Amino acid sequence: MTRVFSGVKPTGHLTLGNYLGAMRRWTEVDQHRSDAVFCIVDLHALTVDHDPARVRRLSRQGATLLLASGLDPELCTVFLQSHVDEHTRLSYLLECVATDGEMRRMIQYKEKAVRERERGGSVRLSLLTYPVLMAADILAYGADEVPVGDDQAQHVELARDLAVRFNQRYGHTFVVPKVTSPRVAARVMNLQDPTSKMGKSDDSGPGIVYLLDEPDVVRKKVMRAVTDSGQDVVYDREQRPGVTNLLDVLAACTDGNPESLAGVYRSYGALKKDTAEAVVEVLRPVQERHRELCADPAYVEGVLRDGAEKARAMARPTVDTAYRAIGLLPPVPEPALSPGR
Ligand code: TRP
Repeated sequence: MTRVFSGVKPTGHLTLGNYLGAMRRWTEVDQHRSDAVFCIVDLHALTVDHDPARVRRLSRQGATLLLASGLDPELCTVFLQSHVDEHTRLSYLLECVATDGEMRRMIQYKEKAVRERERGGSVRLSLLTYPVLMAADILAYGADEVPVGDDQAQHVELARDLAVRFNQRYGHTFVVPKVTSPRVAARVMNLQDPTSKMGKSDDSGPGIVYLLDEPDVVRKKVMRAVTDSGQDVVYDREQRPGVTNLLDVLAACTDGNPESLAGVYRSYGALKKDTAEAVVEVLRPVQERHRELCADPAYVEGVLRDGAEKARAMARPTVDTAYRAIGLLPPVPEPALSPGR
């Protein structure tokens, strides 16, 4: 069966962009048709200036929201990255296969490093090596497919390159993964700045709908979305990014087609109103289930414990194989007790 792996970084509250861009497909499609593994990649949250208490809180909340959105531990594996040592074990081996030039070419690194330096901060070494850890996340599980937003495509590409290179040098060890993207609303844009992605890490309010936003907050944010000059509702990403984003969101929430929806509306106001209600309806069941799960923390902890155990069993053999292949001797076993003693 196809193995699918994806990860969510606990660096901000999960957003409608995460949900429509990725999570919904994991729950509706991936967990049913494949052997799916979903990970809160908490180690990745340590690559930039971080608050330990916040990382803990967001890790727990992220895991709870994955379950609330419909991931079923009977169908898939959900766990925290730091609970399974294989990720960091493998990451080091892959650092011995990757080159520093390759790391410095990563678009996200370049962008974040510039931002960090502009703020007068220093850049953590882990920010540079982070794509290698991500490659380890993927390769340890022999994932065939990695469903992520297109901002992560370059990182999955790197994982492919490292897998191929390792296999060529040291013998076949890793499955070469490929990226898969959802059909609609692969990219939900910021409502206040429709040319940039609705990301969770920017954490600046009004343009971002969070999964746990109250209905009235959702309505307010959508009604205040930036639209474009002009009156008519046209689907045109270049000329009308604001309206196009609303059409994409509405289409994703109602299983519609954004271009045909454009023909239905005569005013921005009506489009916003329907979009707001559609988003509220999509979030309602997730929020209800989230409330239930928060009332039962022992259940969530049990899921994560079992998930980590399953994950370890999946990753261990591949990582051990990689250790042997690259030239590391296996640990010496305890001498067997002689039967006479
Ligand atoms: N880098 C991803 C992000 O920022 C998160 C991530 C880490 C991931 N490891 C992964 C995604 C492995 C898919 C597979 O969103």
